[in-house]
Amino acid sequence: MTRDEHDSWNLLTGVGTTATGIAAARALATRRPGALICDPFARPLVEALGVDYYLKMADGELDGTADSTLDPDKVADGVAIRTQFFDEFLLEAAAAGLRQAVILACGLDARPHRLPWPADTVVYELDQPEVIAFKVRTLADMGAAPAATLHSIGIDLRQDWPAALHEHGFDDDRPTAWIAEGLLGYLTADAQDLLCDTITELSAPASRMALDWHPDLTITNSDRSRQVSRAERERSHGVDIQDISDMIYLGPRNDVGDYLNGRGWQTETHTAQQRFVANDKDFHGDEALAGLLRAHYSVATLR
Ligand SMILES: C[S@@+](CC[C@H](N)C(=O)[O-])C[C@H]1O[C@@H](n2cnc3c(N)ncnc32)[C@H](O)[C@@H]1O
Repeated sequence: MTRDEHDSWNLLTGVGTTATGIAAARALATRRPGALICDPFARPLVEALGVDYYLKMADGELDGTADSTLDPDKVADGVAIRTQFFDEFLLEAAAAGLRQAVILACGLDARPHRLPWPADTVVYELDQPEVIAFKVRTLADMGAAPAATLHSIGIDLRQDWPAALHEHGFDDDRPTAWIAEGLLGYLTADAQDLLCDTITELSAPASRMALDWHPDLTITNSDRSRQVSRAERERSHGVDIQDISDMIYLGPRNDVGDYLNGRGWQTETHTAQQRFVANDKDFHGDEALAGLLRAHYSVATLR
């Protein structure tokens, strides 16, 4: 484990590279026939980072046929299934009348710009300061405008992010739609519980939450995963791509569904595999993609 409680990153170092890789996969997923998702901002955001390796990934030009490499199309399939899940959650919450949304650990996700939010919606997105600064600057340079009122907040989610939310106008009395996509594994087991507790404290009745999670991320600690990371590091010519199991916290953690149910939420959980089946998509078993493909997806409503 190379993490420590004060570490930070940008989009080309440490944990931040996961946001870049996911955005490149979203760009690739968007351009394929029969795409489940449409994210027109993913490629320009990746392009603005100026790293050939990620742009090739976005454009489907990375060779995934060597034993040591991942098939980019399989990554894009997993990312598309996950993106679609969170997109649908937010759109359903908006249709149900929720007008306040919080996107935790947004990375290069451009949902404030690409989803058809009701105009009176207020969206808060949070991530590390350098991640937010890059995204805000790049989208503004593109002339892209959010479809809702947007507050982009650069802060470490291990710090006092509720205070930062309140400073930007977050209203505890309004029901909120929360998402935490691809985040929990980068927090310790205790920090995961604290995040759920904090969201609960900030949530008015009828608030909703969607998260992806794992009961134990030790499944990501495989020789196959390390082989793939090594190959990706070499191919990226200097990007600080680490093995996933060095960036996340391994070992058992609470079942998010049970944990939230014990705190007043009503939770429904599916697996990523079930979402593949529901979308009539082939499910891929590459061990190096366990973090993506063996995830649980939960949707919760506060009673
Ligand atoms: C796998 S990426 C997912 C990004 C985005 N949700 C998506 O799916 O495209 C993980 C994200 O979590 C963010 N993250 C992890 N730990 C964090 C922390 N302590 N504070 C702020 N952001 C964090 C990273 O910066 C990164 O953007």
